[in-house]
Amino acid sequence: MIFTVAIDGPAAAGKGTIGRTLAARFGFAHLDTGLLYRAVGAKGGDPLAAARSLVPADLERGDLRSQEAGQAASRVAAIPEVRAALAAFQKDFARREGGAVLDGRDIGTVICPEAEVKLYITASAEVRAHRRWLEVGGDEAKVLAEVRERDARDMGRADAPLRPAGDALQLDTSEMSIDEAVAKAVSAVEARLG
Ligand code: DC
Repeated sequence: MIFTVAIDGPAAAGKGTIGRTLAARFGFAHLDTGLLYRAVGAKGGDPLAAARSLVPADLERGDLRSQEAGQAASRVAAIPEVRAALAAFQKDFARREGGAVLDGRDIGTVICPEAEVKLYITASAEVRAHRRWLEVGGDEAKVLAEVRERDARDMGRADAPLRPAGDALQLDTSEMSIDEAVAKAVSAVEARLG
């Protein structure tokens, strides 16, 4: 069975949790595509060379979850050639046998426009910054500023900007528990699986 769930949205909206939960629940493979961009940013040097030579071990570096790695990822992700170098792997993953969940910024719009289920997960910048701050600590105002900076870059770039696909189910998790959001996502997949 080929079945793709595309999950897009800004940082810390809940995409990762929803993606992991759906994958476990339906037995689908899961790809956090942000990790690819984080790994490219963390390698340093020429981003295009880094993207072209990316290997699985690069995704296991310990420092990829930091705020700095997120900012570096967002910067290299604005380079069209870097996105192109990472596209085939993601497209193949999406259409693999057995079902796949991919989360990122352009999955429903560019990587897998034919996805069976598309979700756009969002929340206010304040709520997302607060969630991220609970994980990383430090100065909450600074975390909010970084969230806003990353949103602006990811939504404002010319190539594959973050935006909801026309046929995406939009979930605003600002005032929703993660359990409620997961339940809605599960219903959307079940409805399509039939
Ligand atoms: O989802 P994340 O926070 O790990 O993503 C890090 C950055 O990578 C994000 O700010 C923009 C970029 N990204 C992207 O451009 N396209 C994707 N499909 C996933 C991530």
